[in-house]
Amino acid sequence: MPRFHLTTFGCQMNAHDSERMRGLLVSLGYTEAPDRDAAELIVFNTCTIRGSADERFLGNLGEARRIKRERPDVVVAVGGCWAQSQKEMVFRDFPFVDLAFGPGEVSRLGELLARERIQAVGAFTFDGRFSGDLPSLRDRDHQAWVQISVGCNCVCSYCIVPQVRGRESSRDPEAILAEVASQAADGVVEVTLLGQNVNSYGRDLPADGRMRFAELLAAVAAVPGIDRVRYTSPHPKDIRGDVIEVHRDVPEVCEHIHLPAQSGSSRVLRAMRRTYDRGRYLDLVARIRDAVPDIALTTDLIVGFPGETDEDFRETLSLVEEVGFDGAYTFVYSPRPGTEAGESMDDDVSPETKSDRISALIDTVQATARERLARHVGRVTEVLVEGRSRTDESRWSGRTRHNVTANFSGIAQPGTLVPVLIETATSTTLAGHVAAVAAPAVVA
Ligand code: 5AD
Ligand code: SF4
Repeated sequence: MPRFHLTTFGCQMNAHDSERMRGLLVSLGYTEAPDRDAAELIVFNTCTIRGSADERFLGNLGEARRIKRERPDVVVAVGGCWAQSQKEMVFRDFPFVDLAFGPGEVSRLGELLARERIQAVGAFTFDGRFSGDLPSLRDRDHQAWVQISVGCNCVCSYCIVPQVRGRESSRDPEAILAEVASQAADGVVEVTLLGQNVNSYGRDLPADGRMRFAELLAAVAAVPGIDRVRYTSPHPKDIRGDVIEVHRDVPEVCEHIHLPAQSGSSRVLRAMRRTYDRGRYLDLVARIRDAVPDIALTTDLIVGFPGETDEDFRETLSLVEEVGFDGAYTFVYSPRPGTEAGESMDDDVSPETKSDRISALIDTVQATARERLARHVGRVTEVLVEGRSRTDESRWSGRTRHNVTANFSGIAQPGTLVPVLIETATSTTLAGHVAAVAAPAVVA
């Protein structure tokens, strides 16, 4: 039986697509190889969001070149966002690559393998088949990704995603709900709805079968067996009152929103074309906290965007403190080819300044997160058990509804929800032990 090796870079959407590639390849008779040297098919699912993502992938591709030299029969396949962005160049610059396909063509992987060395990305874009409709081999038994849309209609000036993932297209709600039901039957208790901008879900669907994002959330939550619903990522401009109400009213929808802010400066937000300013972002946070006071908010932040001054940067620091994020992903601006900022704005913040700013931002994010996570100490929190702790085999690891990793001792079973008494907190994790559950009263 032929063996494949798959390496995934980038976001959850790629993690999802890779699970589908794995499912597809296994359905075609492939088995998974432990490393590239043992594989007849080497697959990369790539990302190109920042220059550093390209570099990381190209380092790995070098190993595929070496293997191809040693064993010319090996097939090297490159999928995902980098492949899409390089469609004109990939076969010219990397002649040992046999096939390339964009993120909208995962469903064609089988066919492409049969017709190696066709320049897939040149020929097709999104083929109308959601990778979510393909068989999946999930990384985790009790949690699943659910693709609800592909592509993005935003025009954020720094971002390459609309170029590589195309226009937004929503998946049919019936297909989504059928998939969730089958995942639940398979033992899944937690689902994360995935889209580049989940909130605009449904706007492109025909009026008769249309569902809004808030309705979809509630419908997914109502699927028997599903205990937890999450989603990523929303765009702050598209979060409406109905979504906030679902967070308040539907118990399965978790107390966490990842709400990418990108900057705390209204001036920079305008140049980024985010279509909200600092004030509107803070208003949204206030409305969310009004409805769900204890909700966890996490975010994405970029430093060193073209023209960002010290004053602009201080506004990002103060936004972190004012909101009190439970966590944040922080990035140094990286100009991307074909984007508005990459093409027409001077990358004028010096590398030293970028490096100073990212360090200062990380310090502030950690201090704020540590303060926020401390509120869980002393509480009994529901944890979905994932498995043994990676650092200590005698303990368990899982996630709270607020999406924080919790390590704990006591008796537990993967895939179950257990009450954990939280004893300590860092800026990213909680620790404790299984809380004694009060025995139900026996009525004679
Ligand atoms: N440079 C730096 N960070 C970027 N992001 C997107 N594009 C860029 C870029 N050109 C960040 C944003 C986004 C996250 C996934 O990556 O913060 O939310
Ligand atoms: Fe990377 Fe963006 Fe593609 Fe995700 S959608 S893999 S973050 S480029």
